[in-house]
Amino acid sequence: MEIQDLLINYNWKQDLNLQEITEDLRQGKSLVIVKDFPPHDDELQSFIGRLGVVLNEKRNNNGKAVFDVKITRRNNFFTSIANSNLIFPLHTDCADFDQIPDTVGLLCVEPAEEDQGINTFMFLNDLLRHLSVDERQKLLNKKWKFKNQERSILEIENGRYKICYDRITMESFSKLTEVEIEELNNLDKLFKHLSFNIKLKKGDLILFRNDLMLHGRSAIDTNSHRLMKRIRFTILNESLIP
Ligand SMILES: [Fe+2]
Repeated sequence: MEIQDLLINYNWKQDLNLQEITEDLRQGKSLVIVKDFPPHDDELQSFIGRLGVVLNEKRNNNGKAVFDVKITRRNNFFTSIANSNLIFPLHTDCADFDQIPDTVGLLCVEPAEEDQGINTFMFLNDLLRHLSVDERQKLLNKKWKFKNQERSILEIENGRYKICYDRITMESFSKLTEVEIEELNNLDKLFKHLSFNIKLKKGDLILFRNDLMLHGRSAIDTNSHRLMKRIRFTILNESLIP
């Protein structure tokens, strides 16, 4: 399948059908891109607020729903991985939260220089096609520690598979055995093999399911001015759409 077939494009300047976008996200088979989105937090928060319930976090801009993903240092240290220049391997956002938001939006305000800071994605459906019944079962059964949460990498909810994976969190809060490390290495290899790249342009707002795909990004130059505005939310139930 071509990458273009995985993208559903909208334009901010044209009439946006919110119900259609919500439905695209609910199905989770594609990525949604809204082009020419204005670079303002308020606009972003109010738009996403019409698609779902936004997650406000203390670390965000003014403690609201938007977080600036850009290189930020304090006393010579990057303030988080998101704020570093490092590669971010394929993962789920908020894997250690009580409630994991099911959707993430990234608004490209300033892209990185050529072939840097490229966004990578992997669809859970592609992964499932590559796993044997036994392998799926193993991933459904085995629980891993995500800080204070014990979760399996795969889960079935209402008859549908979900994925939760964040190797950095899994390795930071528990001592893994050699066999487990090998297991994760193999998974990472498979995820990478199934992943594809998308280079966002200025004004692109990409919306993607956090529970039906993994996302990551390639490394960035330490002096880069790359700026992505991130917002996390949970899409509305059919019955709640206005
Ligand atoms: Fe992320």
